[in-house]
Amino acid sequence: MSMEEQPHDPLRDVGELVDSLRLAGIRFLPRQVPGFAVPVLPVAATPVLSVEQTPAEPPRPVPPPLPVPPVPVVQPPPVPARTITLAPRPAPLAPSEELFALETVNESSTQGLSLEERAARLAALADQVSRCTKCPTLARERTRTVFGIGPLDAELCVIGEAPGAQEDLKGEPFVGEAGQLLDKILQACGFQRSQVYICNVLRCRPPANRVPELIEAQNCKPFLEATLDLVRPRFICLMGATAGRTVLETGTGIGALRGRELFWRGIPLAVTYHPAYLLRYPEKKRDTWEDMKRMLARMGRAVPP
Ligand code: URA
Repeated sequence: MSMEEQPHDPLRDVGELVDSLRLAGIRFLPRQVPGFAVPVLPVAATPVLSVEQTPAEPPRPVPPPLPVPPVPVVQPPPVPARTITLAPRPAPLAPSEELFALETVNESSTQGLSLEERAARLAALADQVSRCTKCPTLARERTRTVFGIGPLDAELCVIGEAPGAQEDLKGEPFVGEAGQLLDKILQACGFQRSQVYICNVLRCRPPANRVPELIEAQNCKPFLEATLDLVRPRFICLMGATAGRTVLETGTGIGALRGRELFWRGIPLAVTYHPAYLLRYPEKKRDTWEDMKRMLARMGRAVPP
C-alpha cells in the first residue's frame, strides 16, 4: 500500500511534530503556541449565542421607518336606493273626473216619440242586432243574440256583462245561476223581475264565457245606447266591471265607482258587483246590499233595514 493509500492518523502527526521539536532542542512548549492554534471552523453558518453572551457586533441602529405616504381611503360609491320599476298602468279611458260631466243631459233622439213608436223602434233594433256580424267570432259562435227584456219607462234598468250559456240558449238575459241571484237581489229591493229592464253590454255570448274584449264592447255599445234611449229608465244599475267600464267610459275600477252618485246622460246611476262575482265571493254580498240601499234612497223608495 503506498503512502497516499494510508489512512490519516492524527496521533502520528503529533508524534512527528514532537520529534521534530525535540531535534530542534525545544523541550517545553507554552500552553498555546502562536501559529499552532487549531482553527476551529464554524460548524454552523450562524453562531448560536447564549443570552449572556455579548454579540460580537454592537446592534445596528434600527433605521427609522420610512415615511409611509397616507393611503387615501377610497369610499365605495354609494349604493343607490333600490328602486322597483312598476309596469306603467294602462291609462284610464277617461279621467274619473269626467264621470261627473256625465250629469250633462244630452238631447235624446227619441224625444217626442209615443210609447208605441218607441216599442216599434226597440223591436226593429232587436232585429238589427240579431243579424249583427260586427264581431265575427261572437256571430259565428252564438246560438242566438240576447237583446234585453222589460218594460219601457222602467223605474230601474240593470246592465250586466254578456250572456252566458243559458242566456245564449234561451235568448233572454240573466236566466242562469247569476240571474237567479239577481232576481233575489231585486226582490229584496222590492222589485218584481218583470218591472225591471234587464240587458247586457254584449248581445252575444263570448266563447267559454270569457270577459268581453274592448273592441267587442265598443262594437255593441251603440246598441246599448239606443236601447237606453228608447226604454228611458228612471235609474240605471251597472253590475260588474265590464258594465262600469263600458257605460261610463272609464278605467276607474269598480271599487272606486261604488258608492258614487253618478249619471249617464242625466239618468242617475249606481255601480255594484256582478251577481256572478257574488256567487264566487259571497262575502261581497254585504257590500252589494249597501249599494242597493243607497240606490233605493236615491230613487226615493223605501230602504229596507
Ligand atoms: N251574466 C251577465 O252578465 N249577463 C247575463 O245575462 C248572464 C250572466
